[in-house]
Amino acid sequence: MSFDRLWADLAPIGRSKGGGYHRYTWASADTEARSWFTDAAIKRGLDVRTDRNGNLWAWWGTPGPGAVATGSHLDSVPDGGAFDGPLGVACALAAIDELRGRGFVPARPLAVGVFVEEEGGRFGVPCLGSRLAAGEIDPERARSLTDASGTSWAQAMEAAGLDPGGIGPDPDLLGSFDVFVELHVEQGRALAETAHAVGVASSIWPHGRWRMDFTGRADHAGTTRMVDRADPMLPLAHTILAARALAEDHDARATLAKAHVTPNGTNAIPSLVSAWLDARAADASTLEAVVEGVRERAAKAAHDHGVTLEVVAESTTPLVEFSHDLRDRLATTVGARVPEAAGPVPLLPTGAGHDAGVLSGHVPTAMLYVRNPTGVSHSPREWVDPRDRHAGVTALADVLADLLSVERS
Ligand code: GLV
Ligand code: MN
Ligand code: MN
Repeated sequence: MSFDRLWADLAPIGRSKGGGYHRYTWASADTEARSWFTDAAIKRGLDVRTDRNGNLWAWWGTPGPGAVATGSHLDSVPDGGAFDGPLGVACALAAIDELRGRGFVPARPLAVGVFVEEEGGRFGVPCLGSRLAAGEIDPERARSLTDASGTSWAQAMEAAGLDPGGIGPDPDLLGSFDVFVELHVEQGRALAETAHAVGVASSIWPHGRWRMDFTGRADHAGTTRMVDRADPMLPLAHTILAARALAEDHDARATLAKAHVTPNGTNAIPSLVSAWLDARAADASTLEAVVEGVRERAAKAAHDHGVTLEVVAESTTPLVEFSHDLRDRLATTVGARVPEAAGPVPLLPTGAGHDAGVLSGHVPTAMLYVRNPTGVSHSPREWVDPRDRHAGVTALADVLADLLSVERS
């Protein structure tokens, strides 16, 4: 299957010796991965365009209204897995090959997209390419986002040969899509326990990222009496434990996985610790209870240790309930290849964010998930068996054939 060739060509790009991926928006591995996409699309006779926000689109048919859109992203989290993002892109290109092999002639244009900065791995705000296109982030704020080395989005985009002055809402692009379907690796083990290689998304939990700046007082680790310190590490430690406890109490998720310590010396009490809270819950009020709980406990711990605290919401994403009609239509299409004894195609909620979630407020949107036997994601242990990769291609081809065969009314 053409998927295997595509996958083999993409696999070495941005992969570390340990097998994890480091593909950060506009950096060299990302640029190489974007070239992989462009070359593969051109080889297929597709018309490749870069939109005003740097997202790539490969068109089968004339770009314009009434289109069906699919795709995902190629950037990764630090030391990420191979499948989160790229699976949806490679399956989309292979699905075109499969449809052509079937002799299928689309009645509408198809656009295959690669969204930039889906993970927020370099500039901190996830789904930045789709947020910009959907008008859900101020372009000025996006331009001034910086990476760990202080390079701004505007500078990085310009260095990639694109114009950061033009970023922002793209109603012409989104208005040309009648539907968007994203295929993605499953980030859990719900399908692993079933006879289904492919499931359909039902919802995405509301979620967000909050930066917590604990400001203390730098001093000597050897000479400063314990009682005289204003050490921001201590309220951070309380906050990490509080987040864990609150998430458990609310059946939610709360994680502090990233921190910057200033000045980060073994023998210097820090002056500043910035840490990022990633929180997610099944509904908005539960999420709020968790985040407010963390904030309160962090503020108390900061006060107790003579430290000040500032909390900034860097991104928030509301609950997404995917269109039931579209979801059911996909489930019927995918289910047609599954033996009846396997039961209905599973409908799966997720705590993971996706460009499809951002677009869902603007375009009828749906998602397919492909079985991941480890259930692990954002890690090199993320996996999809080769047979299931092919099942993903076929499921997406079936879904696209269904959507593309209907003339626009
Ligand atoms: C994206 O993968 C996210 O949910 O963090
Ligand atoms: Mn991800
Ligand atoms: Mn993803």
